[in-house]
Amino acid sequence: MAKISVIGAGNVGATTVQRLAELELGEIVMVDVVDGLPQGKALDLMQAGAIKDYDTQILGSNDYSNIENSDLVIITAGIARKPGMSREDLIKTNSKIVAEISKNIAKYAPKSIVINVTNPLDIMTYVAMKSTGFEATKVFGMSGVLDSGRFASFIAEELECSKKDVQAMVIGGHGDLMIPLPKYSAVSGIPLIDLLPGDKISRLVERTVNGGAEIVGLLKQGSAFYAPSSAIVSMTEAVIKDSKRVLPACAYLEGQYGQEGIYFGVPVKLGASGVEEIFELKLDQGQYKILRKSSEAIRKIISQMEA
Ligand code: APR
Repeated sequence: MAKISVIGAGNVGATTVQRLAELELGEIVMVDVVDGLPQGKALDLMQAGAIKDYDTQILGSNDYSNIENSDLVIITAGIARKPGMSREDLIKTNSKIVAEISKNIAKYAPKSIVINVTNPLDIMTYVAMKSTGFEATKVFGMSGVLDSGRFASFIAEELECSKKDVQAMVIGGHGDLMIPLPKYSAVSGIPLIDLLPGDKISRLVERTVNGGAEIVGLLKQGSAFYAPSSAIVSMTEAVIKDSKRVLPACAYLEGQYGQEGIYFGVPVKLGASGVEEIFELKLDQGQYKILRKSSEAIRKIISQMEA
């Protein structure tokens, strides 16, 4: 049976554990620094199994040794940006957290696949890869499935059709510089660009780019977690079931898209060994411009961090 560990028992972590438990994908360990938090949530989720009809074993712990021999580890631990806190401060704090977690993953679960969710995503996934010392294909980030899901949801709403028939594609950095791709989006195979006029598509693209911020603005504190946890579970299932799903993920580029040595959102094939293939899409001039701007920003932060 597979063993899945989720680091961070906050909104994203605990909701991910709930969804995974309901699918009975394997035994689950949830780790957090706060004493009692993962234990309490694990107990609650174990009892939910008697009502929701699942037998998944869920252990809450503050001790990393419990993640021993996990097949997959999901990092959702970190702090959210607080008022007055600069982006640099956030990067410093979260990279310390992610580096410490990654060292424990390398120690206790050296054969695991790692999905990072902690923001800023492209940077923290790089930190996780460096600090675990794992092959880059074994460490990747969750962003594109979420951003594409948001885009798909807005497309379905606009067309008044089922979300189930919408395929949307969003690549690029996770944040303002993501790149929704209408050309690679469709409804049951019908190209989106044949279904909606350009100005309507542009509005949906803009809403997708601001999708996370729109929710933060409404919640006032904290950020989205229902759609993020759903996205994590899609990726987890692809790895655990070795299903070779083609999904956008924050993957390590080694020459693809003209980029080297950074993590970036691109379509990949996901299976038991992690990122098994990276697909290169044809982009237009404007999209390449955003891609370069985004990758330069990521590169700058990484070189400052490593200085
Ligand atoms: N080790 C383990 N857990 C930690 C550590 C650490 N060193 N530092 C913080 N945590 C835990 C916190 O105790 C908290 O329970 O991480 C959890 C974060 O939970 P929330 O604050 O609820 O944040 P959440 O909404 O779950 O988001 C987590 O995912 O989407 C991203 O931007 C988001 O980076 C953020 C992450």
